[in-house]
Amino acid sequence: MLDRRAFLQLSGISLASVALPQWSLAQVKTDIEYHYKLTAEPSSAELIPGFQTSVLTFNGNIPAPVIRARQGKPVRIEFTNKLNEPTTIHWHGLRIPIEMDGVPFLSQPPVMPGETFVYEFTPPDAGTFWYHPHMNSTVQLGKGLVGAFVVDEAEPVDFDIDEVLILKHWHLDKKGEWKALTRPRYAARMGTPGEWGTANGIHDPQFSYPAGSRVRLRIANVDNTMTYNLRMKGTDAQVIAIDGNPVSSPYPLDQHKIGPGMRLDIGLIMPDEGQHVALEYLLGKFGFPVAGFTATAQTGDIHSELPSLPINPVPVPDLDTAETINFVFEWEGAISPTDEAGNTHPVFWLINRRAWEGMSKDNIPEPVADLTLGHSYIFELRNNTQYHHPIHLHGHTFLVLEMDGKPVTPFHTDTVLLGKNGRAKAAFVADNPGSWMYHCHVIEHMKTGLMGYVRVS
Ligand code: C2O
Ligand code: CU
Ligand code: CU
Repeated sequence: MLDRRAFLQLSGISLASVALPQWSLAQVKTDIEYHYKLTAEPSSAELIPGFQTSVLTFNGNIPAPVIRARQGKPVRIEFTNKLNEPTTIHWHGLRIPIEMDGVPFLSQPPVMPGETFVYEFTPPDAGTFWYHPHMNSTVQLGKGLVGAFVVDEAEPVDFDIDEVLILKHWHLDKKGEWKALTRPRYAARMGTPGEWGTANGIHDPQFSYPAGSRVRLRIANVDNTMTYNLRMKGTDAQVIAIDGNPVSSPYPLDQHKIGPGMRLDIGLIMPDEGQHVALEYLLGKFGFPVAGFTATAQTGDIHSELPSLPINPVPVPDLDTAETINFVFEWEGAISPTDEAGNTHPVFWLINRRAWEGMSKDNIPEPVADLTLGHSYIFELRNNTQYHHPIHLHGHTFLVLEMDGKPVTPFHTDTVLLGKNGRAKAAFVADNPGSWMYHCHVIEHMKTGLMGYVRVS
């Protein structure tokens, strides 16, 4: 049997024009329906056409397998660490018990090389989530340990096409050799951007869908650094969900920014046969390609409406009794503490005048806030810096009430994107006991201070 690459070469089809992600399979057949085996392991991948790059992968493949689960149904993931360093896996955006949150020391001991840890939980919300290690993140995520986690609605929703796009820029030169994943002068600013833009590990992949079909694109920003300002050309698209959570009423996509860690689900109906639709991101006024979609011959009905998504069962905060807590995010370039081994750990960012003190088995710092189980809170976030910060809370889902001092149509999210000097008011019920990470998802910001945790008890 020919492999796909050899087949394409024999048939004279240019690889660049037909390259599509080869999702690897992780599912195993057992007593529970959603049962997966997942490894983290070094491997190599052809990210830049014609060149091999040594990468870190889930199950040996870029892109990582999409883990698909169903709302309200148990999932079991047998994770084996085949890296030569410890790791943990975090399920970003899922409201699951602390024991399964995948944060070293706060929720579990690190999974050592060669060890297996079984993650088992039942996702309460449907939507587009993702997974990644929560150790040595600049390297582990930067070199490829990022994957999509899709929770299908308890009652199936009727799209014809359901596509995952995980967006990442790789820190590679033109020959696929690694460049620095972090540089202090960038870590102290917007973060160190990668050079090679991909969706599902491919630069500008091209998809073909039948004319008139209803398409759901699940876009996840799994990059360490980049904020993507997305837009769609060639058709009208609707914003249907933000960070996994359906919006109360879908609205047309004009431009929408997703910071690192954030997701956007968009719905669209494919135009007439032969027409082309392009997903782009904007840097200044220039558009850069993310992925393209060409309408092929009609195969089913020509649809004119998108199905609607049920709202997730996120607890409703009681705004009358909610306690307000202020968080100020600031820049501080001066300190450079040195540990016993003589390594310096630059600190550039602070939460409420505090930088993360670091964490190890015997050294767990105090939480940035102590919350009472079952109470409602309003987090008032204030970014006193010139850079974007996607502020992420584990184990809970925010209801955003205000952005930059103005009321917004409330929406659910696990990550609030603060722009330059931006502000936000986000409410939630502290209904999930445990110590929950609370950090900027620009990985270098997190690693240089912008990280803490809240304790719910
Ligand atoms: Cu994507 Cu602490 O998480
Ligand atoms: Cu998370
Ligand atoms: Cu940040």
